[in-house]
Amino acid sequence: MALRYKHFEAIEKNAALLGVLIAIMVSLGGLAEITPLFVKASTAEAPPGYDPYDPLRLAGKDIYVREGCYLCHSQMVRALRFETQRYGAHSVASESAYDRPFQWGSKRTGPDLARVGGKYSDEWHRLHLISPRTVVPESNMPNYPWLAERGIDAAVVQQRMRTLRRLGDPYTDEDIASVSEALADKTELDAIVAYLQGLGTLNKPQAPDAPSTP
Ligand code: HEC
Repeated sequence: MALRYKHFEAIEKNAALLGVLIAIMVSLGGLAEITPLFVKASTAEAPPGYDPYDPLRLAGKDIYVREGCYLCHSQMVRALRFETQRYGAHSVASESAYDRPFQWGSKRTGPDLARVGGKYSDEWHRLHLISPRTVVPESNMPNYPWLAERGIDAAVVQQRMRTLRRLGDPYTDEDIASVSEALADKTELDAIVAYLQGLGTLNKPQAPDAPSTP
């Protein structure tokens, strides 16, 4: 039976019937979105070859969050032409599989950082973080000089790795045991630079001009 104008008219003139039908349609839409999430263990599984953060970059990620870098920088390239032309391949959920919390953000006072790994040298990042205006005169990004002066507490990072392992990140006992060695003599600046250099590169730090493999 084809729906005709008179059927719609009958529905639209009966608020209760209209309400019930709307509720049914909205529930169907909701079910279509929710049901797959119950079946799948995780919607963002790490692709093969994508490792969890090593201790230095894990520390760097936590410093990024602590300093509020996400208040000015997003880490999500949208699937829009003008974005992909500026930043590179658009972001996919699996890239954030090891990010807790994810750093997609929604505010861009500065540029998106999802593909910044390998764009500049480590030295550029050091100068830029200590005082952005030494390398970008018109920048309004704040200075973060204290990053160069502070060390990293290995015990905290080990604790973080144990927690992340409980949540499913594949850290081994050896990974956790290697933390003190990996972080010896490292400053917060080393950690955040290593973190930035890994962004958008399947979590592998890259040298400048290396082709990125998002
Ligand atoms: C008040 C806003 C603001 C905050 C907070 C901020 N930035 Fe920036 N950032 C900017 C602006 C604006 C630029 C563009 C000018 C420049 O390169 O300095 C920028 C540029 C950058 C770039 C270069 C990106 C590119 O592709 O050229 C990196 C890397 C960066 N910021 C990292 C960070 C990190 C790490 C933090 C936290 C420690 C941070 N920013 C905090 C505003 C901010």
